[in-house]
Amino acid sequence: MTKKPDQLRSHRWYGVPGMRAFGHRSRTKQMGYSAEDFAGKPVIAILNTWSDVNPCHSHFKQRVEEVKRGVWQAGGFPMELPAISLSEPIQKPTTMLYRNLLAIEAEELLRSYPVDGAVLMGGCDKTTPGLIMGALSMDLPAVFVPAGPMLRGNWHGQFLGSGSDVWKYWAELRAGTIGEKDWQEIEDGIARSPGQCMTMGTASTMTAAAETLGLTLPGASSIPAADSSHARMATLSGRLAVEMVWQDRKPSSLVTAASFDNAIAAVMAMSGSTNAIVHLVAMAGRAGIDLKLERFDAIARKVPVLANIRPSGKYLMEDFYYAGGLRALLARLGDRLDLGQRTVNGKTLGENVAGAACYNDDVILPRDRPLAAEGGVAILKGNLAPDGAVIKHTAAEKHLLTHTGPAVTFADYNDMAARIDDPALAVTKDSVLVLKHAGPLGGPGMPEWGQLPIPKKLLQQGVRDMVRVSDARMSGTSYGACVLHVAPESFIGGPLALVRDGDLVTLDVPKRRLHLAVDEAELARRKAAWRKPPPHYGRGYGALYAAHVTQADRGCDLDVLHAGAATKEPEIH
Ligand code: FES
Repeated sequence: MTKKPDQLRSHRWYGVPGMRAFGHRSRTKQMGYSAEDFAGKPVIAILNTWSDVNPCHSHFKQRVEEVKRGVWQAGGFPMELPAISLSEPIQKPTTMLYRNLLAIEAEELLRSYPVDGAVLMGGCDKTTPGLIMGALSMDLPAVFVPAGPMLRGNWHGQFLGSGSDVWKYWAELRAGTIGEKDWQEIEDGIARSPGQCMTMGTASTMTAAAETLGLTLPGASSIPAADSSHARMATLSGRLAVEMVWQDRKPSSLVTAASFDNAIAAVMAMSGSTNAIVHLVAMAGRAGIDLKLERFDAIARKVPVLANIRPSGKYLMEDFYYAGGLRALLARLGDRLDLGQRTVNGKTLGENVAGAACYNDDVILPRDRPLAAEGGVAILKGNLAPDGAVIKHTAAEKHLLTHTGPAVTFADYNDMAARIDDPALAVTKDSVLVLKHAGPLGGPGMPEWGQLPIPKKLLQQGVRDMVRVSDARMSGTSYGACVLHVAPESFIGGPLALVRDGDLVTLDVPKRRLHLAVDEAELARRKAAWRKPPPHYGRGYGALYAAHVTQADRGCDLDVLHAGAATKEPEIH
């Protein structure tokens, strides 16, 4: 189907008679455009999450010009609309608090302006799900332009990986095996170019998920930000957005339960970030798909880990690109995917990955030589997490995957920070570190505090991993036996709130179990004595968020933003 110019959504702003449309046209001409520039042409909103505070998107100021070039080339009218930037390393308390704000902003920018289609420019962790959630809700033709990974870090000739090597060398600094001078040099060398984190953190996990969902050009998510291919991909995406408008190729015609299964399979094959679980559940909710945690576990069990990328593996995203990138990985996954799902370019996923070659079998492993036979993530249940919890078991020391130990509890992050290195803390390598008040409401915003630091005295004894349990998330670049996303969270009286020092906690990954060895009568007594903490916010966005945010197993979206009855377009011209 091909639309006609008077069927464009923007026609209601620019193509009709009357005083209001006069204003739309005259004010657009005020910016130096002629009627020929915009009349009867698809208006392509470019939602640009560039800002001075976001190093991962520092190339977007240039890239947006390349997207515009593609829109012009294809006969569209580009309209750059800046959207909140969500800078993962700098925003406090956590970008996750604001993912839904970006999603609202994306949806309402597309709704309230004369937009026919969109190019979504994101990549730094929450910007990908935030933009896509908004676009799914608005359901205009849209293509996602991933920021792309930054170049490998470098220190003394060794490669450094975002996040992963920060945790690693921070532990070494605290253990005394490196000094302040080394630490300073690592700070200088770990982030060398524009682009998102170049380990398999949340950013590269989510951009790959977006590509597998069919929302980017094939191969787009693997291109390093600094590579000239990235600029060409941006231009092609601008061109594609115009074509998508004429063809009325909306997200709802691309995104299905099966394409979400494909995205989950890709995440598992890359041993991607646990954050993807929360985001994919929320994204599916916008598309009217009820994605349950169990689906992640079921898919993980039949998908091998093929990407040998840190933190689970050895290499970095730059190596992944040179090895053939996501197309090569998806081609290798083959029968684990539904290759008939449609994508933004009008082709199926199978057509997009057909013939993709792998140039390095050590980076993208063959099916008969996987990094792990199963995907990296397991969903746990038990009396400590009735609605579920998550562990990235491929990034943990294997001996901890079946473990029982006494709890060492922390009331919140500040309590943990104040006591974790106290020589008097009663903790051994067999203890289970428990952090409370770090969930969607407790954090607030479910910060990435789930990789609790190993107590210094244990580090000095050579301990590098312990079982840790929290209702927090964990950076995709983190590692360790960290049980995350415990739901319901402690702040609302979930069982995690009731754990006391010395209680025995059992983690049994093979049996997918998380158990607190305290009998039900005692738990009921503790629950009766539990008091709801005061809310973090009395006003503002935080209060709105707290009133509506869902728990981790529901994706932490705002309940009013899940798919529901269609929002009517305004009828005024
Ligand atoms: Fe932006 Fe990691 S800090 S992607």
